[in-house]
Amino acid sequence: MEISKVGVAGAGLMGHGIAQVSAQAGYDVVLCEIDQGCLDEGLGKIDKQLSRSVEKGKMEQEQADEVKGRIHGTLDQQDLAECNLVIEAITEELEKKREFFGQIDEIVGDDAIFASNTSSLPVIELATATGRAERFLGLHFFNPAQVMPLVEAIRAITTTDEAFDAALEYGRALKKTVIPTSDKAGFIVNRLLVPYMLDAIRAYEEGVASVDNIDAAMRGGAAHPMGPFTLLDFVGLDTTKFIAEIMYTEFREKRFAPPPTLNKLVAAGWYGKKSGKGFYDYSGDQPTPVDLKV
Ligand code: CAA
Repeated sequence: MEISKVGVAGAGLMGHGIAQVSAQAGYDVVLCEIDQGCLDEGLGKIDKQLSRSVEKGKMEQEQADEVKGRIHGTLDQQDLAECNLVIEAITEELEKKREFFGQIDEIVGDDAIFASNTSSLPVIELATATGRAERFLGLHFFNPAQVMPLVEAIRAITTTDEAFDAALEYGRALKKTVIPTSDKAGFIVNRLLVPYMLDAIRAYEEGVASVDNIDAAMRGGAAHPMGPFTLLDFVGLDTTKFIAEIMYTEFREKRFAPPPTLNKLVAAGWYGKKSGKGFYDYSGDQPTPVDLKV
């Protein structure tokens, strides 16, 4: 099964990065959004990253122009019709994802493979929104997709060897490390990473240390590039809460339950870096810890 044209649905935090790395690997890309503002923002970020690569001497201007030329931004789902692989990177909500896949199932050629970039939802629950559950799988990228080397490839119980192998080949063409996992909420990384981040919140709630000191401790003591609160803000607190709830629903284990402080920040609309405020305030030159009065 040959993949030459890749559709990416959603030009947000993950989608724009997946579109960029796919185009850099030589694929024609259709980047599909429902909102013109989000599409412009995603394409703008790609432009910026490519310009930075040219400035750093990592890419020739001509190459950057070619990459840009391979990405077609659109608001029209019909433009996905000719894609051989469509990767969905829209909001982490089961019903929204099922609705999207149901819609494009009518549009995209029958042979094409569908993949979800879900961080935690059972892939089979998305696959059944389409008539092609055998050509459906998860391809989970990490933020920033341009930098992080890993892609988890999640095999649903319905996924055929042919579809899975074609998706593995696509991931490797992106020069990613592709690790196969079975279809259990959170897969490998989030199953381990999310309870760790939630535990950091609980440690803070219990008065173990301040937000910035917990971050500094994990950077200095465990060589993590970001402490857990910086990472929470980076991933997005709304996204983390969605993921935690999905895993809690699947496993009913306390370690996956969102702590009260996370719920409060999300209720306040403090989603982290993307909204300008979360555990840190991003309005100044440097992020400063927010006094959460916990
Ligand atoms: N897009 C593209 N490139 C980016 C980027 C972005 N958003 N952010 C950083 N980069 C590039 C920089 O341009 C730079 O490239 P060069 O080496 O070519 O110069 C390189 O990454 C390093 O960046 P910086 O020097 O600016 O900063 P840094 O060394 O602190 O690295 C980081 C930034 C890569 C984000 C690093 O802090 C890091 O690895 N953080 C942890 C990220 C992480 O854990 N991600 C996974 C989150 S979990 C997830 O995504 C899954 C989920 O389902 C929740």
